[in-house]
Amino acid sequence: MHKSVQDIIKMKKEREKISVITSYDFTFASLCDKSGIDILLVGDSAGMVMLGYENTIPVTMDQMCMFTESVSRARKNALLVADLPFMSYQTNIEDAIKNSGRLIKAGADAVKLEGGAVMSETIQAIVNVGIPVMGHIGLQPQTTMLFEGYKVQGKTKDSALKLIEDAKKLEESGVFGITLEMISNQVAQIISKTVSVPTIGIGSGTWCDGQVLVLQDLLGMFEKIKPKFAKRYLNLSDEIVRALESYKNDVKSGIFPSQEHCFAMDDEEFKKLREQIDG
Ligand code: KIV
Repeated sequence: MHKSVQDIIKMKKEREKISVITSYDFTFASLCDKSGIDILLVGDSAGMVMLGYENTIPVTMDQMCMFTESVSRARKNALLVADLPFMSYQTNIEDAIKNSGRLIKAGADAVKLEGGAVMSETIQAIVNVGIPVMGHIGLQPQTTMLFEGYKVQGKTKDSALKLIEDAKKLEESGVFGITLEMISNQVAQIISKTVSVPTIGIGSGTWCDGQVLVLQDLLGMFEKIKPKFAKRYLNLSDEIVRALESYKNDVKSGIFPSQEHCFAMDDEEFKKLREQIDG
C-alpha cells in the first residue's frame, strides 16, 4: 500500500522530515519510488526539464495527465501529487474541480496549486469534492515571470506578514501541506511553526518539515538553470555524454556490436540456407 495524505500529515506530528522529488516518466519514477522517497511530485517544471519550455506557463492539462499517468504506473510506495498547470484552475471553480478530477483519474492522489489567500475558495471547493490539495506560496513560477522573475520572497516585514497570512489561510482552506518556494529562512521557520500541516521547502532554508528538489537538478542533468539552493548529488549529464560518445565511437569503429550482442541461426538451418542460395 502506498503512502496516504494522512501518513504525510502524521510525519509532521512525529517530527519526521518529509522527502519529496519531482517525477515525470515511468523509468525515473520507478527509481525514485524504489529509493523510499515519501512523495513523488509531478511538477509542472516538466515543461522546462522535459519539454524544453522557457518557463511553466505553456504547460497544458493534457501534458500533465500524460506525465501523471506514466509516474502512476511506476509508483508503489510514495504519495503521488500532481501540479495543476497555469490557467487550469485560475479561471473558475468549475474548471479547478474538473481539472483536479482529471489528474486524479490519471493516477494522482492529490493536486498542488499556486497561490495564497486568493485561492481559498478554489481550494475549499476542490477539498469539498474529496480531492486533497497541497498549496504553494512564496515564489510562484506560473505568474512570477509575468511580474518580477525569480526572486527570494519574504525579505521585508510586509512581504513576510503577507506570506504568513497566506499560509494560515491555506491551512484554514483545508490543504494537507504547503510548498514554500524561495522564502527567506526566518519566514519559512515562522510559517512551519505556525501551521499544523507540513511545509515542504524548495530554496526555503532549514526549518521546513520537508524538502523538494527537481530530479534533474539533484542528478545534475539540467544545464540551463542551476539554482543555488539545489544540491547536486551527481553530475549525470557529464557521465551520460561520455557514455554516448563511447557508443558513437564504438559504432563508427565497428567495436559495437560484437559477437556477444548477435543472434545466431541454427547451424543446420544455416547450412541449408547457404546450399539453396549458392545452388
Ligand atoms: O513544478 C515543480 O517542480 C514544483 C516544485 C519546484 C515545487 O512545483
